Amino acid sequence: MKNLFDVYPVYDIVPVKGEYAKIWDDKGNEYLDFYGGHGVISIGHAHPNYVKAVQNQVAKLGFYSNSIVNPIQEALAEKLAQASGYSEYNLFLCNSGAEANENALKLASFHNKKKKVIAFHKSFHGRTSAAVAATDGPSLVAPLNANHEVVFLALNDAVALEQELAKGDVCCVIIEGIQGVGGLDQGTTEFFQQLRTLTKQYDAVLILDEIQSGYGRSGKFFAHQYHNIEADIISMAKGMGNGFPIGGILIAPTFKASHGLLGTTFGGNHLACAAALSVLETIEAENLMQNVNEMNAYFTEKTKEFSEITAIKGRGLMLGIAFDFDIAALRKKLILEQNIFTGSASQKNLLRILPPLGITKTDIDFFFNGLKKALANLNN
Ligand SMILES: Cc1ncc(COP(=O)(O)O)c(C=O)c1O
Repeated sequence: MKNLFDVYPVYDIVPVKGEYAKIWDDKGNEYLDFYGGHGVISIGHAHPNYVKAVQNQVAKLGFYSNSIVNPIQEALAEKLAQASGYSEYNLFLCNSGAEANENALKLASFHNKKKKVIAFHKSFHGRTSAAVAATDGPSLVAPLNANHEVVFLALNDAVALEQELAKGDVCCVIIEGIQGVGGLDQGTTEFFQQLRTLTKQYDAVLILDEIQSGYGRSGKFFAHQYHNIEADIISMAKGMGNGFPIGGILIAPTFKASHGLLGTTFGGNHLACAAALSVLETIEAENLMQNVNEMNAYFTEKTKEFSEITAIKGRGLMLGIAFDFDIAALRKKLILEQNIFTGSASQKNLLRILPPLGITKTDIDFFFNGLKKALANLNN
């Protein structure tokens, strides 16, 4: 680690192999991955469709820039429009979540020529300049990023929202479908609908950050689709490439494209598009969204056996299990003693669950058996 810039606290585990929701380390120990590499693994580690798509593509043509016709990119845009229900929206591709939000914010500002952003308490939108400025995490914001005009409001406070929008200078509102890092809070349906009405009324762009909550993870393609609204721009990344770096924004037809408005060297390259296309095909072929809903029901039922669990937050397979204590020690026990990967959130009492979308009841049983043992041993 001598030459690595030390910005990540790490567990002393070296994964070398994965298969669906399972991972093996370099000593041959098997783990259950209920974190999906931070919500990234959607169709499963080393899913055969994904492996085949990436292998075939890299053997033919791994990369070319956006200066030529790329039929895989076109096929991905068409398939995504159909799978998401946003059939008239256009796709711009990039490489990560932060980049997707950066482009969404920039496009909103190009569109209505304004620059003030409304974001919400406990939001996380990434670490690039405008995205991090719209993130409610002062320690992540360098002086360089701090010049953006951003107002943070409480989730579900429609009165404050209207007061701010009524000033007439708001470019856009950015909101997560379900908050991830912040701790699985989400707007109510009433709030999302007010947000939609008010942003239209005051000429502000509505950006839905579905980077974590999108791609079927919530049980619908995008989490905001539980609220019967359409956003102007939707940002995506994590589940999109099942681990292959790719991000994108879906853009309403009211936004006018012009050459040079947005751009990237790597975004939308052949290999990334082949990976992303295999993900969409597999979500459809394996009915993964239906599985998400079924596994959510089974998971929720099982939590009732645990008096230590005070609440379940989130939707689908984007869940936070709430306890009345800090879960840091529990999470450590789960990974080191029970061989189960889980995640944490900025709310210290929440254990985060972001498994691959194809998990089975057997996986969930394994998780709860491990949880039971870890809880029984918590003070040892
Ligand atoms: C909701 C949300 N937006 C944006 C991001 C940033 O994505 P990336 O880390 O790919 O830049 C994340 C990452 O955790 C996220 O959860």
